Amino acid sequence: MEDSRLDSQRRGRLISNGDFMEINKNVEDDGVIFMSIKDKAGEENAADKVKDQNGRDVTILAIESSCDETAAAVVKNGREVLSNIISSQIALHTIYGGVVPEIASRKHVEKMNGCIRAALSEAKITLDDIDAIAVTYGPGLVGALLVGVSAAKAIAFAKNKPLIGVHHIEGHISANFIENKELEPPFVCLVVSGGHSHLVVVKDYGEYEIIGQTRDDAAGEAFDKVARAIGLGYPGGPKIDKAAREGNPEAFTFPQAKIDDAEYDFSFSGLKSSVLNYINQAKMQGEELDQADVAASFQKAVVEVLAGHAIKACKEYGYDKLAIAGGVASNTALRELLEKECKKNKIKFYRPSPVLCTDNAAMIGAAAYFEYKKGVRFGLDMNAVPNLPLGDRERRYHAGK
Ligand code: KG4
Ligand code: ZN
Repeated sequence: MEDSRLDSQRRGRLISNGDFMEINKNVEDDGVIFMSIKDKAGEENAADKVKDQNGRDVTILAIESSCDETAAAVVKNGREVLSNIISSQIALHTIYGGVVPEIASRKHVEKMNGCIRAALSEAKITLDDIDAIAVTYGPGLVGALLVGVSAAKAIAFAKNKPLIGVHHIEGHISANFIENKELEPPFVCLVVSGGHSHLVVVKDYGEYEIIGQTRDDAAGEAFDKVARAIGLGYPGGPKIDKAAREGNPEAFTFPQAKIDDAEYDFSFSGLKSSVLNYINQAKMQGEELDQADVAASFQKAVVEVLAGHAIKACKEYGYDKLAIAGGVASNTALRELLEKECKKNKIKFYRPSPVLCTDNAAMIGAAAYFEYKKGVRFGLDMNAVPNLPLGDRERRYHAGK
């Protein structure tokens, strides 16, 4: 983040706007950005809209710490966010060009209790009022996950509350339920984050059929690597998104890999290498690199593949609802292209506000609600599982054992 922007934030509270969300930001002395996210519709969007079908409310305190965001949220009946607190370490990792796991874990330890306290206080409840505690237990950085898992287990033990482990990617998918109260499975979901690129059919709550995935780099990883190569730095996705707005997406034609034996799979490593080759050649020939043109052309290649696969899946599998999830789902070009393509193909398009696409705990609380309703409860032997698989419930439940 530029110094001037940081200074202006330090001076006071900044309000910025997501799609439907209002974000209250505050930069702390250690550079960590503390955010409280609220639904713009605010109070009137509240309780009575979302009722548990038995007429009983289920309030879940959710915790997320799988990467570089410490987050806590209170979610009612899976779709109503009473509070959503994120403590983002992004500025601390920027100087290293990526997330440093040891720093992430240490900051999670420092910030976790404060985030939980803030989430409870904004929701105007205490630990005694919650029905369950939910936490991301994988996939992610093991040291980072362990902080959230330990905090959740401690609360579950001390207050004798049910404990629910949530798969991080299932959380991302469930972010769609928060702003789209009417959205129900089945639907197709394109999950694109820093570690995952999956095309899934959400058959029911918590039931996923993976129909495509990346063979090599995740979409977000490709954004991050290309951004570093063209000198935009970390975090790559938002920087490429911004730079691309000034560039010409037709300036270069970068390859879009097609995998013959698995038409819904993705591969981004060829595209990334092609961009890197171009950069090296330009350097050798002493040509000046147009960052914005490279960013725009690279972004176009990625989003066309992502959107192409997603639309094709909806048509061929016969679904008329498409949702997107994960950090890359906040990409402007991807959202615009899918908006257009969905309209053309009469598919209803669901996309969470950008701040609900990147890591947060409200999405974990949403996913946990549907698990809670099914009777899923974890024991205090729950462990962090850095490579937790998506969709495989059998392996998921026993992953920690
Ligand atoms: O979901 P997320 O916050 O964390 C993971 O679970 O990985 O996703 C982070 C990824 C990073 O690779 C970041 O560069 C990418 O999402 N990202 C974006 C944008 N915002 C975040 N990629 C493209 N365009 C964006 N606007
Ligand atoms: Zn994530």
